[in-house]
Amino acid sequence: MRIVLVGPPGAGKGTQAVRLAEKLAVPHISTGDLFRANISRQTELGKLAKSYMDAGNLVPDEVTIAMAKDRMEQPDAVNGFLLDGFPRNVAQAEALDELLRTEKMTLEAVLDLEAPEDEVVKRIAGRRICRKDSSHVFHVAYNPPQQEGVCDICGGELYQRADDSEDTVRTRLEVYHTQTEPIIDYYKSQGLVRTISAMGPVDEVTERALEALKSEQ
Ligand code: AP5
Ligand code: ZN
Repeated sequence: MRIVLVGPPGAGKGTQAVRLAEKLAVPHISTGDLFRANISRQTELGKLAKSYMDAGNLVPDEVTIAMAKDRMEQPDAVNGFLLDGFPRNVAQAEALDELLRTEKMTLEAVLDLEAPEDEVVKRIAGRRICRKDSSHVFHVAYNPPQQEGVCDICGGELYQRADDSEDTVRTRLEVYHTQTEPIIDYYKSQGLVRTISAMGPVDEVTERALEALKSEQ
């Protein structure tokens, strides 16, 4: 199964992607996590990406598309993947279509997670992520780790993302509305979009997502 997850920052894409990827037995590919891994390894790509990410802007398409393509071509992704945070504008969506066409593959669905702005702001403000693996995500109130500041999964140190400051979140939301939301119409014209509410407990959202992915368009 090949699925794209879309939704505003803080909607819970990463949280749901980890669970859905496990249920559907496909790899979770997050361009945000790939960039963060490059930043912590201090690669050239990481140095370039950091300045854009810290400001809440998109990393340029050329490097983002090359990185995503490289990851999608890894052996574990031949039978499917769950894309989280990619594509993020129409140019990236077109590049993905082109790549899929060349490989004679198709997308099955675009899962659109909806959450109101005041909720996503609260989710981002309380988010803590693991230094060792940024797919290990917690929330100080909604999903607290057993020991404050320590990852339940691997024991790594929990920290607040540099781009989770109030100002940067405002920019990220604006970037989402102006650059990312247009891909929803792009995919609607292909009949792929399944919109669900991202409100309520994490388990309920996962159930809703699995139902939406099962249903025929
Ligand atoms: P990225 O890492 O993709 O961030 P994002 O899209 O802003 O999304 P977030 O990670 O903030 O939120 P999420 O929806 O995954 O929510 P989460 O599950 O963590 O991108 C970061 C940056 O990288 C971009 O700004 C850009 O610069 C760059 N980038 C990445 N991809 C790019 C691309 N394709 N092109 C160009 N640039 C790119 O949940 C949030 C919090 O809420 C957590 O604390 C969680 O525990 C909690 N929570 C989750 N679900 C629930 C629930 N149901 N109830 C209560 N709390 C919940
Ligand atoms: Zn961890």
